[in-house]
Amino acid sequence: MYKQPSLSVYVLIRIVVIVVFVTTFYALVIAFVPLTYQSSTFHIALFFSSQILLIISVYLGAKQVGKELENVEKYLSGSSDFKNLDSSARFFTREFDSINIKLIKTLQKIKKREKEKRKYTAKIKLKNRQRSDMLSAIAHEFRNPIAAIMGYAQTLTDDEDIPPKLRNKFLNKIYNNGDKIEELLSRLLLWNRFESGKQKLHLSKFDIKPLAIEIAINLEERYSREIHLEGEPFIVRADKALVEIVLKNLIENALKYSNETVYVNISPNRVSVIDKGVGISAENIEKVTKKFFRTDEHTWDNSMGLGLAIVKQILKLHNTVLEIESQENVGSTFSFRI
Ligand SMILES: Nc1ncnc2c1ncn2[C@@H]1O[C@H](COP(=O)(O)OP(=O)(O)OP(=O)(O)O)[C@@H](O)[C@H]1O
Ligand SMILES: [Mg+2]
Repeated sequence: MYKQPSLSVYVLIRIVVIVVFVTTFYALVIAFVPLTYQSSTFHIALFFSSQILLIISVYLGAKQVGKELENVEKYLSGSSDFKNLDSSARFFTREFDSINIKLIKTLQKIKKREKEKRKYTAKIKLKNRQRSDMLSAIAHEFRNPIAAIMGYAQTLTDDEDIPPKLRNKFLNKIYNNGDKIEELLSRLLLWNRFESGKQKLHLSKFDIKPLAIEIAINLEERYSREIHLEGEPFIVRADKALVEIVLKNLIENALKYSNETVYVNISPNRVSVIDKGVGISAENIEKVTKKFFRTDEHTWDNSMGLGLAIVKQILKLHNTVLEIESQENVGSTFSFRI
């Protein structure tokens, strides 16, 4: 295999070759030209022509080195577009070849870093956009209960003769809207704990059935709807407060997005929440667990699209996943193993 010479060997070989060539040329001319022609002018001319040969050879050698340097310079000046990189280019001497390889490696590293930087900048831009979308969604959801509180409070202040029954009704509305704001805030704070990775598991053993019954009773009262719960007692080792959030979110969604009875089935290893409501289209099933996602067709006031995103995170912490089966206008089943 061809092995490039080092620069010093290359220069040495070149000088030796030139010296041998010029000496041989000189000797041959002296040997073959008859003595009668060998005047002092002849010798001077011969000496100068050999000197010219020497100069030409040195010039050609220097040109070769210049070409190598030119290639290196080309890389350096074209390093911004990186397209001129030619890792297969071979250099005549070993030093330049190794400079070429090292340069290419350095340029490739810079190129990789630039790519990472571009990716990072795009990610930050996306995050900023998401943050601003999120802020306007949050502001929008807070606006309704705040406006209601202000409206009822204003009426109560303006009209002192309001009948006690109506006054109580308005005060109740103020309380309920305050409650809504409180719920929105705690959902946001919970989401923030997941986003920043601060949420930890506090595992304990408990029966999931009585917990589901308690949640169902509360929601039945709040939504004036029927929830049919069936299943065996089922002891799990999990974070009770977080499992409660999961069940509450799933049952509440089933109530919000359907009009008929909601079913909760607790079987060993699996909990399912079933409704016969509006269902979710095939293209949206993947998206409903994304934060701040709500389908355009079916939204509720004071819903931020965070419920299922939180459920997904909680189940992930428990090493399990949310399974969704749904058909538009037929209904949905949200279930998980635990
Ligand atoms: N049982 C269901 N039936 C039909 N659609 C559903 C059901 N559950 C969720 N969805 C759809 O998925 C979207 C996201 O649900 P998610 O629980 O994350 O948010 P949300 O209920 O709108 O708001 P939040 O839970 O923050 O109050 C909902 O807006 C709704 O369009
Ligand atoms: Mg929800």
